Formats: sequence, C-alpha cells, structure tokens
Amino acid sequence: MSRSPSLPDTPTRDIDPDLPDSERLEALREHFEQLVEANEQLTTQLEAARERQSSLKAQADRTQRENETLKSSSLYLATVEDLMENEVIVKQHGNNQEVLTEVSPQFSDRLDPGDRVAVNDSFGIQRILSAETDARAQTMEITAKPEVTYADIGGIDEQVREVREAVEQPLTQPELFDSVGIEPPAGVLLYGPPGTGKTMLAKAVANETDATFIKMAGSELVRKFIGEGSRLVRDLFEMAREREPAVIFIDEIDAIAARRTESKTSGDAEVQRTMMQLLSEMDGFDERGDIRIIAATNRFDMLDDAILRPGRFDRLIEVPEPDEEGRKQILEIHTRRMNVDDDVDFAALAEATEGFSGAEIESLSTEAGMFAIRSERTNVTHEDFEAALEKIEAGESEIINSANYFFD
Ligand SMILES: Nc1ncnc2c1ncn2[C@@H]1O[C@H](COP(=O)(O)OP(=O)(O)OP(=O)(O)O)[C@@H](O)[C@H]1O
Ligand SMILES: [Mg+2]
Repeated sequence: MSRSPSLPDTPTRDIDPDLPDSERLEALREHFEQLVEANEQLTTQLEAARERQSSLKAQADRTQRENETLKSSSLYLATVEDLMENEVIVKQHGNNQEVLTEVSPQFSDRLDPGDRVAVNDSFGIQRILSAETDARAQTMEITAKPEVTYADIGGIDEQVREVREAVEQPLTQPELFDSVGIEPPAGVLLYGPPGTGKTMLAKAVANETDATFIKMAGSELVRKFIGEGSRLVRDLFEMAREREPAVIFIDEIDAIAARRTESKTSGDAEVQRTMMQLLSEMDGFDERGDIRIIAATNRFDMLDDAILRPGRFDRLIEVPEPDEEGRKQILEIHTRRMNVDDDVDFAALAEATEGFSGAEIESLSTEAGMFAIRSERTNVTHEDFEAALEKIEAGESEIINSANYFFD
C-alpha cells in the first residue's frame, strides 16, 4: 500500500504596498503564475488519487463478490419489490415471504423493482438474474394459496364436484382409492368456451388442498421460450416432485398440445418437442408420486389426440356456458361486494343474459357500477344493469374483465 504523495508548498508572497504600480503588478503576475503551477500539480495528483481509489474500489468489490460466493450455498429466487437507500424489499418465490434486506453497493444502482434476483439463506442478494433465468423462474409460478374458493364459482356445481373427485380426493383421501383398488385419473382436462371459470376452478382446487400449486401457461411457454419448452416441462415436473403433494396446472394447454400440423417451421418443431416431453412426463406416472395434473383449454377442437390417451389426460370435464340459473348465481357472486338496490331483479337479468359467459357477467356488473358512479350514486339500481346490458350488447363496453378478454 503506497503512501499519499507529498503536497507541493502553497506559494505565498508578501508584496510591499509602497512599490510602484508597475513593479507591484509584475510581482502579482509572478505570484499568479506560481499559483497556477501549484494548482496544476495538485490537479494531477488528485487525478492520480482518484484513479487509485477506483482501482481499489474495484478490488474491494471483487473481493466482496468472492466472499459472497464463498459464503453462499444454493440460492433462492426472489423478486425485488421496493428499493430504499441501502435496503430492498424482496419477495421470495415459492413461499411469497417478504423480507427487508441490505443490498451491497455493487447491486444497489443496478436494481429496479420487479427484477428477479438470487438470494442466499440470509436473503443477501447474490445475483441479478439474466433474462433467461428470469423467464424460467417466471413461467413456473408457484402460488402458495390462490384466493379463489369454490364459493366464488357459480353455475358449475357438477363440474366442481367432478374436479374435487378427480384431483382433491386422491390427495386428501388416497386410502379410498387404495381400498377400492382403482387408480385415480392421471390428468384432468377442463375444456369449454372462454370465460366460463376453468382457470378459477383449478385455482379453487389448489386453495382447498394443502398441495403446492404450480402453474404454467402454455401460451407463455411457447411465445417466449422457443428452444426451452421441453426443458421447462422437465423442470416443472421435477419441481413438483420436490414439493409433493403438488398440483400442476397447465393453463391454455392448446398452445403446446395442438394437433400436429403440416407446417415445418422451427417454431412448430419446438412446440412438438415440448409436447413430447409433456407426454413422457405423464407416462412416467408411477414415478410421479403424489402429483395431480390439471390442464385447461378453450380450444378442445385443436388438441392432439395423443394427450387424451389413457394414463394421460384421461378425465375430461366440460365446463359449459352457464345456463339461466348459473347466470343468476354468477350475478349474485359478482355483486356480493356491490351496493345493489333491493329492486335489482337478478332473475330477469339472468334471463336477459342468454349466451353470456361468467366473465361477461362479471363485466356487466362492473359496467352497471360505472353507471351508478356516473350518476353520482353509491347504490346500483336495476336501471344501471339494464343500461349496462344495452351498452354491452351494442358492443360499446370498454370493460375488460379479469380474464382480459371480452367477446372472443
Ligand atoms: N362460473 C363462474 N362463476 C363466477 N365467476 C366466473 C365464472 N366463470 C367466469 N367467471 C369470471 O370470469 C373471470 C374469468 O374466468 P376464468 O379465467 O376462470 O375463465 P376461463 O374459463 O379460464 O377462460 P379461458 O378459456 O378464456 O381461459 C373470472 O375471474 C370470474 O370473475
Ligand atoms: Mg383460463
């Protein structure tokens, strides 16, 4: 470690005030030149010191990184939620635990909320994940407990019962199946028109069982991860095996299990590979252990027959559009937290909403609420619902319901 270089003397000069002006000027000029020179010298020294400082800082950072690597064993994935001066709040994937953790200077200015990071046992941030690792972590979303319950689902009681039998019971009462001597279904496929509650149903099952719920959207997989699909499927099942009992939910499965097409683009080949991997994971059912698989699609017509063979998705449950009674139930569910007048006639609305899906009924309720707000009321009247209905039927509604689509 080198010592700091010695500083040049500060030039000083006493000038006799009685000197004639010209001599005084000369003396001052000389003094000024000395000062400039000293200043130059100091600037050079300062620059050298700065350089040295930054090289030392780089060294220190490297050492700190090494130190952290040495300290860390395997890392957990987390998402940065909020940034403060020297601390961040991260939320760990899997258990959704939120923690306040210190962040080392090497990361502090490279972090943004939403970034995915790897943390060690003491939640110290070790790495900011690259887009690829990031994507893999994101696709497989482990939800501790989705918030949907069976009570939030209207008009499809029969389907709810079937799903519970096929997914929940084998998890909660496996001895029942043992003693009767039958195998529970390998996979359950929910199919039916958009917005009828398929995704909700899968989430509700997860809520009611103590199993880990791992969700993967087929469309996400294909859109972002060409070349990675089959590996992701493998990871997905591996993750489930590590956490059994587990429910794997593959939403929009048509994206990876569409019927083989004639086209030979590389994208299609990738999708094929992803699906083959899925089939082989499902065929290895014996080793699969306590894992239930639910998939959902609104494009049943597009599915490859291969995924419907015995031992794969061998329990099909159709989730139809709600009938009149179902629509009434769904209306009641979605207005539970709304301030609706007693004169609102749900039966009449149910009758008038022939052909509406659950999602569309949700939009209707929101739109009716908007009419109330526009008239500066806090209560929603039957007329609000009628106005909403009219607007929706005229195709003028801008409300996007929670499933993010409207009138497919
Ligand atoms: N049966 C239902 N009971 C209550 N709400 C429903 C029902 N069906 C749909 N909804 C409402 O519509 C929204 C979308 O439903 P969901 O995502 O389950 O549809 P989906 O069947 O999965 O549709 P898609 O095939 O387009 O994925 C839900 O969040 C809910 O608010
Ligand atoms: Mg869905």
